[in-house]
Amino acid sequence: MQLLLISLLCSFCLLGSGNQASTDEADCDDPNVFLAADAALRSYNDAKEVGNQFVLYRITEARKKEETGRVHIFFKSEIKESVCQVKNGINWQQCAFKENEGDNGECSAHVLVNVESKVCEIYTQNCSIRKVLEPPVTAVEHTCLGCFNLIDTNSETLLPIVRSAIKKMNRVGNHKFHFDIENLTKAERQVVSGWNYNLQYKIQQTNCSKSLFPEWTPEECSLDQNGQHGDCFTSVFVTPNEEIRDIRLDCHSSTGFCLSCPDEVEKEDPELLNLIKQFTEEYNSNNNHTHLYEVNEVQKATRKLRFSIHICLTSTYTGLLR
Ligand SMILES: *[C@@H]1O[C@H](CO)[C@@H](O)[C@H](O)[C@H]1NC(C)=O
Ligand SMILES: *[C@@H]1O[C@H](CO)[C@@H](O)[C@H](O)[C@H]1NC(C)=O
Ligand SMILES: *[C@@H]1O[C@H](CO)[C@@H](O)[C@H](O)[C@H]1NC(C)=O
Ligand SMILES: *[C@@H]1O[C@H](CO)[C@@H](O)[C@H](O)[C@H]1NC(C)=O
Repeated sequence: MQLLLISLLCSFCLLGSGNQASTDEADCDDPNVFLAADAALRSYNDAKEVGNQFVLYRITEARKKEETGRVHIFFKSEIKESVCQVKNGINWQQCAFKENEGDNGECSAHVLVNVESKVCEIYTQNCSIRKVLEPPVTAVEHTCLGCFNLIDTNSETLLPIVRSAIKKMNRVGNHKFHFDIENLTKAERQVVSGWNYNLQYKIQQTNCSKSLFPEWTPEECSLDQNGQHGDCFTSVFVTPNEEIRDIRLDCHSSTGFCLSCPDEVEKEDPELLNLIKQFTEEYNSNNNHTHLYEVNEVQKATRKLRFSIHICLTSTYTGLLR
């Protein structure tokens, strides 16, 4: 934020709020209000050393206090960056708005207008400029400020974010193989103090097993055409200094295995298979049925503590004679 203070010498702050309270509402079409806003903006642009001039977008509030031969104008305005550079001798009234990515500003000012001579004296002016803070990626669609906007999935800005998300998934999940991104299908971003990203992408198993390659690197591990596929819905926060934080993952393989859940156990996990075997034997030996039972399908297996495995299973009668 940039503050420009033209003059504090005779500010209406010094005159006191009681003074401004004695003002009357002024019509925004009042020629004196326009004169005051014009003079204030010229003075703002003149004081600006670099960049582009600002143009008046609208006056949002105006009050006046009349004295003999002169009138005090207090107003608030919104200004926008234009295509004209500063110090080029062009009056802001001849300049067009900068279409996209232009900065916006809000000003409040107190200007004294001489009714006869139309000469303005700027008592105070305070403008705050909102920089349009976005890293250079192409916005596909810009619906509103502060909302999530779709961004180009080919944007280079997304590469380190996606890579960090894949690394985290491979670290926390329990699949025997590392996975890698197959296709980024959707990316959207919200400008906050920093950026929130929502990403959707397809993933695929690579030829790197975690036992042989504790660390996943895209250089060593390629997508395995016979491997499993999956989908990820990921949200990431990136700080204004571009630090990647708060990666939240929701990644599942097409078989429903959660690839980002530290508790999830693979159905083919040898430890799990061994437990199921023990469990079935125990079940059958403690039973007076004339048939043996075996596990038909493991629906989901999670591990909460190192040696306690919770399994949900359906067992069906298999028709084996005891
Ligand atoms: C200028 O505007 C800023 C932000 O609106 C405000 O915090 C500050 O007090 C103002 N300064 C003066 C001198 O009015
Ligand atoms: C990636 O996804 C997009 C959109 O779903 C699709 O058009 C494109 O063909 C896909 N690319 C690959 C390499 O699968
Ligand atoms: C994975 O496949 C790629 C390409 O076929 C190969 O270069 C790489 O060495 C393989 N990695 C492993 C760990 O087998
Ligand atoms: C199994 O059979 C034995 C002897 O026939 C009987 O005592 C026991 O109660 C039965 N157990 C069950 C669980 O039916």
